[in-house]
Amino acid sequence: MVPDALSITGELVANALRASERLETIKVHVGLGAGEVVLGVWDGCAARPAPRRVELSLETLDLREENFDDNGGWGLSIVDALAVRSWVEETRPRGKWVCAALKAVGAC
Ligand SMILES: Nc1ncnc2c1ncn2[C@@H]1O[C@H](COP(=O)(O)OP(=O)(O)OP(=O)(O)O)[C@@H](O)[C@H]1O
Ligand SMILES: [Mg+2]
Repeated sequence: MVPDALSITGELVANALRASERLETIKVHVGLGAGEVVLGVWDGCAARPAPRRVELSLETLDLREENFDDNGGWGLSIVDALAVRSWVEETRPRGKWVCAALKAVGAC
């Protein structure tokens, strides 16, 4: 579960940083819900995540050198594959939490 939580958090943080202005604050939340671990990353950007639903297979991963680290569009698909659910909570006066829940270890 911890590797999944780290992967999800890494993808959400990377997105929040890309969506934010330079020197903007982002926030990371890790909480325990009813049988689940809730991960959330806040940023102040008005735009919402736009999942591309790419097919996660080695065939769709373009490993050519000129595409190194430029296989964009996998992040939210990875989050969806690892999480039991994901959602966005708008905050006032601006920003949003992008959240994902994982089943807690030992929970049914
Ligand atoms: N926190 C966010 N705020 C605003 N837009 C977002 C946020 N997270 C994701 N998005 C939008 O959703 C798109 C899809 O995100 P996703 O993480 O799936 O792919 P990516 O970030 O473009 O590429 P990758 O994660 O593979 O490097 C992004 O390109 C961006 O336009
Ligand atoms: Mg991303």
